[in-house]
Amino acid sequence: MLVCHCNGISDRTIRRVIRGGANSLGEVRSACGAGGCCQSCTPAIRKLLRLETAQTERDADTTDRPQSAASA
Ligand code: FES
Repeated sequence: MLVCHCNGISDRTIRRVIRGGANSLGEVRSACGAGGCCQSCTPAIRKLLRLETAQTERDADTTDRPQSAASA
């Protein structure tokens, strides 16, 4: 899905840069250009930042869990 129409940036690209370490609008903009023009896409970028951050935290919770607790 195209998120940033000005720069032709998809949600996949934005998710990838967030997973790669971008954790703010400015960092996403620097990494892929999304949000660097009219900024009408910034609410969607913020939503992706929230979603991806939550996903990363869930992933960390499951990977930090000891094997014995996961199988109990
Ligand atoms: S739609 Fe993203 S900067 Fe314009």
